[in-house]
Amino acid sequence: MLFSGLWRVGGSNTPSRGGNDSTVNAMLFKNLRDDIEATRARDPAARSRLEVVFCYPGFQALLFYRMGNWLWRHRRYFLGRFVSHLGRVLTAIDIHPGATIGKRLFIDHGIGVVIGETAEIGDDCTIYQGVTLGGTRPTANQAGHKRHPTIGNNVIISSNAQVLGPFTVGEGATIGAAAVVLREVPAGAIMVGNPARQITRRAAGEAKPAFTPYGVSGEDIPDPIARALSGLLDEVSTLRARVNELEQGKAAAEPAAMPLGETQATGTRRGCQA
Ligand SMILES: CC(C)(COP(=O)(O)OP(=O)(O)OC[C@H]1O[C@@H](n2cnc3c(N)ncnc32)[C@H](O)[C@@H]1OP(=O)(O)O)[C@@H](O)C(=O)NCCC(=O)NCCS
Repeated sequence: MLFSGLWRVGGSNTPSRGGNDSTVNAMLFKNLRDDIEATRARDPAARSRLEVVFCYPGFQALLFYRMGNWLWRHRRYFLGRFVSHLGRVLTAIDIHPGATIGKRLFIDHGIGVVIGETAEIGDDCTIYQGVTLGGTRPTANQAGHKRHPTIGNNVIISSNAQVLGPFTVGEGATIGAAAVVLREVPAGAIMVGNPARQITRRAAGEAKPAFTPYGVSGEDIPDPIARALSGLLDEVSTLRARVNELEQGKAAAEPAAMPLGETQATGTRRGCQA
């Protein structure tokens, strides 16, 4: 009913490609029910379904997205875009209707989230405020090409993270707050920083490593770049020790020649003094 109404506003007589209206509406409402439950499951602050429906911009943005996306897939591009625009005005979350979003996405707080046209998001993902799933070269003529990332299932993208480019973020990965991700992310990885690098999660209760010279040492360094640097420093220390050893060995082999040298030097000095 809802969609057949929108369809008529669009002025098309072409029948829906997604089955009859009641099936489409049933699927839409099933997805929305799932979205509500996902919000309640992942936000301890969500007290009731009513609160989610009326007070959660992330849920409301998904409602607009699902309508806009349905129109977009049925080639009602202007209407799809307009519905998405209304959603953006009301929620400050900008989801292109051409994006592909799986089940139970939870957008927490939501303000400033941007999800581009060719972005794909798997099931059970969580996105916080300020996240961009964008392209790296927005000015280049890339219409019709994949420009935005593909996010696997169960991914968490923390506040203000920027994930830019047509690569994949593997299943179960976590993108840290304010990270700028420009390359493929392996499944289960935790990425932080700009440009983002992979870290290993410290176990609960595990203390921060003690301070060490150069800030790097030991096998428990979470950052792979720091670990590589630590390996290089170890190598340099080993080489330095070896050079010292060789110099000492050489010095030990020279004493026989030294007295003569010293005598000569002394003689010379004496000669000068004479
Ligand atoms: C990425 C994140 C999930 C990692 O958490 P974690 O697995 O508990 O990681 P740890 O706290 O053990 O940190 C490991 C290392 O990464 C660093 N790190 C963690 N998060 C970072 C971030 N966002 N940016 C830069 N470095 C970060 C830590 O300083 C630590 O470095 P150290 O070993 O030199 O001390 C978390 O830090 C994060 O960014 N959460 C954001 C949540 C969010 O958006 N909340 C908004 C709610 S409204």
